[in-house]
Amino acid sequence: MADKHSSVSLEKIEGPIVFSAEELAIGEQYKSRYPETKAALMRTLWLAQKKWGWLSQEVQEYIAELLGLSSAHVKGVASFYTMYYKKPMGKYHVQVCTNISCMLCGGEELYEHFKQRFGIGHNQVTTDKRFSLEEVECMGACGYAPMMAINEDYYEHLTIDSADAIVNALP
Ligand code: FES
Repeated sequence: MADKHSSVSLEKIEGPIVFSAEELAIGEQYKSRYPETKAALMRTLWLAQKKWGWLSQEVQEYIAELLGLSSAHVKGVASFYTMYYKKPMGKYHVQVCTNISCMLCGGEELYEHFKQRFGIGHNQVTTDKRFSLEEVECMGACGYAPMMAINEDYYEHLTIDSADAIVNALP
């Protein structure tokens, strides 16, 4: 999905941008599964995001060098998919779907509720860095609308009260 609201962060990642030996081995496994190295890019970017939390310019360049791909190609993939963060997000990244099924079942109201509750808008982060919020397109759970995802966990058939209870229970 193209991100119509994307922005680039100038924040730097602290520390060296290098995968550990274990992560490099995982990356090699990815590469071995595909006939072309290029096909391993998305999984490798995901591995990088899991490690550093987001994909800075430096991280994207590291991945390009690691896979022998052009920086432009890596940047193109990283910027096209909204699941790759181009700036640091909160500890809990709350993604609320407002696409058609969710919209018809209250997804927009849910998104507006979290905007008010967190005091932030799309792809913004609370000042304590605990939450970030993203209005997302269909996440493939239309039959369970409305839904949200917090980091990689899906929550479905939500009401504002049940969504609040989920957020309140986060450690
Ligand atoms: S429309 Fe919301 S998950 Fe598909």
